Amino acid sequence: MKRATIFSPCYKLSRTILSRFYKDYESVILLGHTLLKNLGPLEHLITSFKIPGHLETSLHHLKFPSPLILAAFEGDNEIVRLWTQFGLGGATLKTILRDPRPGNPRPRIKRIWTSEGEGLINAMGLPGKGLSHTLSHLNELLQFPASKPIGFSIGGQSMDEYEYNILQLIKTLKAHPQWAIRPYFIEINISCPNTPDGQDMQAHPELLTHLLRNLKLQYPDIIMGPKVSPDLSNDSLLILAEIVATFPLTFITLGNAKFQKCQEIGLPQNALSIGGGGLTGPSLFNRTLEMTTLIAPLKIPIIATGGVSSAKQVQELQTAGATLIGMATAVVQNPYCIPEILATLEEPKCTAHHSPE
Ligand SMILES: Cc1cc2nc3c(=O)[nH]c(=O)nc-3n(C[C@H](O)[C@H](O)[C@H](O)COP(=O)(O)O)c2cc1C
Repeated sequence: MKRATIFSPCYKLSRTILSRFYKDYESVILLGHTLLKNLGPLEHLITSFKIPGHLETSLHHLKFPSPLILAAFEGDNEIVRLWTQFGLGGATLKTILRDPRPGNPRPRIKRIWTSEGEGLINAMGLPGKGLSHTLSHLNELLQFPASKPIGFSIGGQSMDEYEYNILQLIKTLKAHPQWAIRPYFIEINISCPNTPDGQDMQAHPELLTHLLRNLKLQYPDIIMGPKVSPDLSNDSLLILAEIVATFPLTFITLGNAKFQKCQEIGLPQNALSIGGGGLTGPSLFNRTLEMTTLIAPLKIPIIATGGVSSAKQVQELQTAGATLIGMATAVVQNPYCIPEILATLEEPKCTAHHSPE
């Protein structure tokens, strides 16, 4: 892990320098991706870190070598693979919708500083190549280590689309000889702050019951669960979690970006093309911890996601009842935070959750 303490400040410095040259932070991120993908023979030295054996964590029958996983946000599979090498136990891919989408116009991602530290606000609007593209590129994902489960995050513009996307994906995975034996799970993104219809199931929980019932009737063995917003009231959150708890082999991902208008956080209205977006990073942590504490008594496995960047925070969430920890912003800012966290992380004290099976 000593390599991480050397590379980490270099990485942060290069980010700061690039940010001076490029006004649009998306360009800085993309340039970083290009550099990372072209490390050639240095790739292993620069991006590959061992995970201490005592950190293995289970989500039902899925085994994750480390409790840290990539939250759904990156659409470039090669970058997800490289980040995973830094010591993540698995990775959730960016939300997939049926049709290709360009997302919102640029600028659509900005760095912001709050009293808790540096975060991001994004109005990406779920750009993506669509379900057919994902299904025809499943072989690419087989380059990921087989020991690290992959999460497929699925979105929808309507209830029919959610069901269609998930069923098509599962059918294709089950028919694929290699995927039939690879570990994976399905995260249902019901909390995207950047699409108009992405939150219907949060407002009408009976829709979630209906969807889970239909899916579980056909595929009771597939591990799946919704990803909910930090903006939900505690009462609404409890209702959704109670629904999830009635189905076998489910989980709940607690935390997504928190919608804010640019002006509410001191940015000019045109800092993002649609005047607002999803706030992510350190300012979310307290709510992530609060949600985890609230839901833990229901004994559903929790993927706590939002604002995590240190071993202390990981341990607080595990003690509160989280099984896995999702990370996004901290990884974009500096993926060396992953080996740094792992180096000081103790064996999880509280992971023995179950749902009715
Ligand atoms: C640029 C960006 C894009 C994102 N895209 C998605 C997405 O496609 N699906 C999703 O469920 N969450 C998405 N998220 C939310 C993250 O998965 C995560 O829930 C959120 O960033 C909070 O975690 P963090 O504080 O560690 O960043 C996105 C976040 C960022 C920063």
